[in-house]
Amino acid sequence: MRKSWRESYTEIIAPEKLDEICAVWLTPQKFTERLSDKNALNLVAISNEQIVGHTYALPRQHSSILIAYLYVLKSSARRGIGKTLLSSAIECFPDANHVELGVLEHNHAAIAFYKSQGFFEAGPEPKPDDEPPSIKMTKVL
Ligand SMILES: CC(C)(COP(=O)(O)OP(=O)(O)OC[C@H]1O[C@@H](n2cnc3c(N)ncnc32)[C@H](O)[C@@H]1OP(=O)(O)O)[C@@H](O)C(=O)NCCC(=O)NCCS
Repeated sequence: MRKSWRESYTEIIAPEKLDEICAVWLTPQKFTERLSDKNALNLVAISNEQIVGHTYALPRQHSSILIAYLYVLKSSARRGIGKTLLSSAIECFPDANHVELGVLEHNHAAIAFYKSQGFFEAGPEPKPDDEPPSIKMTKVL
């Protein structure tokens, strides 16, 4: 996932900030926390015995699901892996009636991807001033 973050955000986030974000969010401890959360779903996509994609989903209040950490390696992009990870994660929560997520405002490729999957923009996501601006996207199921 570190590789995918660097590939994805080099042009959007300043290098020092990217190092800081990776050091906080992509640590073995954070992975262990996410993997050991019994309410959460972690999915990986494997191709030629290598992990090429990942996503994480968490049930929320009001029959909602939060999708996060949807990453596909650049070398495996545009093969339907992101779409399959996203739809498979949603299928695991049959009682949910909507999906929400946050995406960097300048991540135009990801925004286009989510729109192609039926999401729409739902306004800015509150973030500390020193973090890059994000928007919320949502999809009604
Ligand atoms: C965004 C991302 C998850 C898409 O995954 P993917 O496996 O490449 O996408 P898919 O092959 O499933 O694409 C499904 C559809 O989404 C749209 N889409 C995907 N990537 C797109 C792009 N770069 N620009 C515009 N539309 C795109 C297309 O309509 C595509 O269908 P098509 O290939 O038949 O035209 C992936 O490119 C990625 O990991 N990007 C970097 C990390 C990131 O930004 N993650 C989101 C964090 S919120």
